[in-house]
Amino acid sequence: MDDFDPLLLPEIRHQLLDVKTFLNPQIEKLLDDLGVYIFMIEAFSEWIPYSKTHIHIDAGGTDISKINWIFGGSDSSNQWYQIKSEKSGTASNTTANTGSTRFDINDVEKILYTHPAGPNPFIFQAAIPHKAVLGKERRCCISILPKWKSNNKRLTYSECTNLLQSYLVAGPGLEPRT
Ligand SMILES: [Fe+2]
Repeated sequence: MDDFDPLLLPEIRHQLLDVKTFLNPQIEKLLDDLGVYIFMIEAFSEWIPYSKTHIHIDAGGTDISKINWIFGGSDSSNQWYQIKSEKSGTASNTTANTGSTRFDINDVEKILYTHPAGPNPFIFQAAIPHKAVLGKERRCCISILPKWKSNNKRLTYSECTNLLQSYLVAGPGLEPRT
């Protein structure tokens, strides 16, 4: 959809977008040639200046990757955390019903990595506790979630970075703590 502006989506923190409607056909073709399809598109909207999201891991904490674009929010960032070893977080659902595990600020040992928002898509490590930190500008993060055509399994972070390293900037290069 050429005229689609993610920043004009309704103020809902986490919603799903229809893959058939919203996936760019060129991206679809590129991924198809690499043996991958997109099964879900998520939109994460943040509109409250200087707010922070919860520290969390996505979808139960298994090693999965996402391909992310940040719209707006040029003064925002994502941060990944080392969690104290005895802490396992609290299961929580999302407004898009995808499941996540949240961590309290007291569960945190230190910040592992800060990734400032930029104009390029990047491969996102969703299995390590992370949060978004907003600046003044509203932002929307569009996440497309890949699976292998051969077995319908989700791509791990390293599978995704290996597959797309000649096309995309990898994210923080963190491996999950499993
Ligand atoms: Fe997340």
